[in-house]
Amino acid sequence: MKKLSLGIIGLGGIAERLLPTFLKHARTGQIVGFDIDEERIQVMKKKFGIETVSDMDILINNKKIDAIYLAVPPKYHCNIAVKVMKAGKHILCEKPLAASIDEATKMYEVAKETKVIHAMNFPLYYGFAYSRIRELLSTNTLGAIKRIELSALYPVWPRPWQQTPWIDSREDGGFVREVFTHFIQLINASFGKIENISSFVEYPDNEHKCETGLIGIGELVSGVKVVFNGLCDVNQLGNIRLLIYGSEGSVELQNWRKLIVKTGEQEWITAGEMKDQSKSINTSYEVVNAFYEAIDGEKTRLVGFEEGLQVTKVVEKLLRKS
Ligand SMILES: NC(=O)c1ccc[n+]([C@@H]2O[C@H](COP(=O)([O-])OP(=O)(O)OC[C@H]3O[C@@H](n4cnc5c(N)ncnc54)[C@H](O)[C@@H]3O)[C@@H](O)[C@H]2O)c1
Repeated sequence: MKKLSLGIIGLGGIAERLLPTFLKHARTGQIVGFDIDEERIQVMKKKFGIETVSDMDILINNKKIDAIYLAVPPKYHCNIAVKVMKAGKHILCEKPLAASIDEATKMYEVAKETKVIHAMNFPLYYGFAYSRIRELLSTNTLGAIKRIELSALYPVWPRPWQQTPWIDSREDGGFVREVFTHFIQLINASFGKIENISSFVEYPDNEHKCETGLIGIGELVSGVKVVFNGLCDVNQLGNIRLLIYGSEGSVELQNWRKLIVKTGEQEWITAGEMKDQSKSINTSYEVVNAFYEAIDGEKTRLVGFEEGLQVTKVVEKLLRKS
């Protein structure tokens, strides 16, 4: 079994979360990291014992590196990903694909042209809730889909545990890009494209700061309406809910993990609060494993840049940018 050598560009919060999974995976060989912040390089080198470089181009052009995990803020994804793909390296890119439709389109075009493996980190897609939703749809438990709703409330944005320099910027931060992206991908994977988007976005006076509220509506090809509602600065616990209403039953995904199915007067929790830990899925492992399998030429489930572009189109149209 040939091990794969991995470069990591961007050694921030999410890279720190994914590194144990990369290190644990039997297929991972050498790992070489790079970050523009030299102090951060030293912290991550000490914590994980990885090799590091202080010049990104040396990493991208290193012939021994098979693939790159790109985990920098969204506005840098495009330029770096294009370089990586043009150097013939496979790429696992963080979501959202980019902070504009133009950049996401370019990334998808270069991915097609260079024929490298291109994948994105959408852990929800590999989790219990998505497979349960697919099952409910395939058994027609929900009946005809009538409406989909995504609703998020935040007492404060950015959330206290994610204080990064870009997360509240209008250019590439905000809860729509950071959080809605995951659920839009889930809707896209389950029901197809969301089109005909219109929205009302609330922005603060400071033109550099991200949205504080959003009401939006989109439409599936079937005509089913998808409703978006997001609001910050409300005095209650943060909460995100995806609701799928059907003629025979409904399903609600609460706070990423808890899945509640409702039919008539019955309600039951089917994921997230189950005691049986053996049924829990390490979604990061599934993402990394699928990426490696695709590099090996195996048939696997990846979210590629074409889907990433589709999701970015919805996100940026909701934010009324094109
Ligand atoms: N898939 C998920 O569940 C998930 C969760 C959190 C974040 N993310 C995504 O991951 C990306 C990074 O988020 P984060 O929370 O780790 O942010 P972060 O700010 O904690 O980390 C980003 C790192 O990139 C470095 N960096 C910035 N510009 C760079 C450049 N040009 N070249 C090299 N390094 C550079 C920064 O110094 C920082 O260390 C974003 O796209 C974010 O949306 C995904």
